[in-house]
Amino acid sequence: MNVSVAGVRLKNPLVAVSGCFGFGREYDEYFDISLLGGVCVKGLNVRGREGNPPPRIAEAPGGCLNSIGLQNPGVEAFLRDELPFLRSKDVAVIANIFGGTAEEYAEAAALIGNAADMLEVNISCPNLKAGGVNFANDPRAAAEVTEAVKKAAKIPVCVKLSPNVTDIKTIALACRDAGADALSLINTLLGMRIDTETRRPVLRMNTGGLSGSAVFPVAVRCVWQAAAATGLPVIGMGGVSGGADVVEMMMAGASAVGIGTVLFQDPAAPVRILRELREWCAAHAVSNVSELTGSVQNY
Ligand SMILES: Cc1cc2nc3c(=O)[nH]c(=O)nc-3n(C[C@H](O)[C@H](O)[C@H](O)COP(=O)(O)O)c2cc1C
Repeated sequence: MNVSVAGVRLKNPLVAVSGCFGFGREYDEYFDISLLGGVCVKGLNVRGREGNPPPRIAEAPGGCLNSIGLQNPGVEAFLRDELPFLRSKDVAVIANIFGGTAEEYAEAAALIGNAADMLEVNISCPNLKAGGVNFANDPRAAAEVTEAVKKAAKIPVCVKLSPNVTDIKTIALACRDAGADALSLINTLLGMRIDTETRRPVLRMNTGGLSGSAVFPVAVRCVWQAAAATGLPVIGMGGVSGGADVVEMMMAGASAVGIGTVLFQDPAAPVRILRELREWCAAHAVSNVSELTGSVQNY
């Protein structure tokens, strides 16, 4: 079951995604989180954030909408209060970071140093120096952040892409050319719901990010495009809810696969998903799961 992403070895391809797993403690009451290949922690910035006012999560067909607003305790509190628990577990630790400027991203990367195994750089954030346009929506801004983080980082850098763009290949290539060691995708799709009785948006921030099985085909398409365009290792995520989805995501080009919103339905889902993946591989005479990566036979 072992795979490797930019030199980081995972004992199996399953990674808990950022924001759906906290720092792992609550899930460890449902299953031993050492079962996972990796844990990507909630998005961190240097100073921490309170997040958005509620309601900030709502159900949607096949998933959910959220506007948590990147609530987190800050990098130093993470290193002091949360990382030791994760380090007591046999999992690779991926530190997800964000910022409002390229300098803030670099500062977070430098503070983390080599305390984690990999950095995941969430570029789906407003660029405060460019009128709030998302870094993820502009190849130059995406490259600027990637370069700044690479300069400050002591561990491999994975850049996390947004599906809310016209051409994901252009952004993926800009990140690769700026030095990204790997890519992860997809972040959530921008969505909105309205309560027809109150005529109010269901989320206090009006709009939010859609995740869950509803986004799975979009995620497979984005992973397929980004992996083929860049040749970089990819952590594929978005709507994965079973072992067959992991296989499909890997065939599209992923080396490892994220498990997110499904955890809200079933906190122990990784136990089932790993079993289903093993069964699929056994039934299809796949002796090493990494053989699946990029094995789609395109027309
Ligand atoms: C409640 C919630 C919080 C999230 N927080 C973050 C975050 O802090 N940083 C980040 O990069 N992605 C965040 N995401 C996006 C997920 O990591 C993931 O990319 C997305 O949900 C798609 O995967 P899924 O459909 O399996 O959940 C969050 C998603 C959800 C549902």
